[in-house]
Amino acid sequence: MLSKNLLTKLNEQITHEFYSAQYYLAMAAYFKKEDLDGFANFFIVQAEEERFHAMKYFEFINDQGEEAIITGFKDPKREFTSAEEIFSLALEHEKLVSSLINDLMNIAQEEKHHPSIGFLQWFIAEQVEEEASMSRLLSLVKRVGEQGHGILMLDRELAARTFNPAAE
Ligand SMILES: [Fe+2]
Ligand SMILES: [Fe+2]
Repeated sequence: MLSKNLLTKLNEQITHEFYSAQYYLAMAAYFKKEDLDGFANFFIVQAEEERFHAMKYFEFINDQGEEAIITGFKDPKREFTSAEEIFSLALEHEKLVSSLINDLMNIAQEEKHHPSIGFLQWFIAEQVEEEASMSRLLSLVKRVGEQGHGILMLDRELAARTFNPAAE
């Protein structure tokens, strides 16, 4: 049984995760326009992961005997000027999501709600990876710059990313 507060916050997290998916898809659209298909692929896969995250909350709420609430949200930013800008925004966004998940965990722990604590543990670990991956790419993009051979090498690396829910 979920408390009203925990249920509200878990439902809000569905929206945050779907919003993340839209935000990353907007970033993918920028890279597509720039003909950096590998970078676009990275963010398309990222968007798929975020929808997968949203559905994990959706299923958990249902498994707890409650009804998931699906809402709309504001349009994501879509005017981008560089890969560096995008990765610094993506890192900032992942840090925000981490703080929301930490808040959720704090509530679950205060309420000693063990099913939620167990469920949220996966997300705590996932956020460590999400932040590390955006941070690494931000640093690489800064190092190679926006033009030239380096960015094309990175583009090739990012083209290989695939969505693998079984490994999630
Ligand atoms: Fe997520
Ligand atoms: Fe994420």
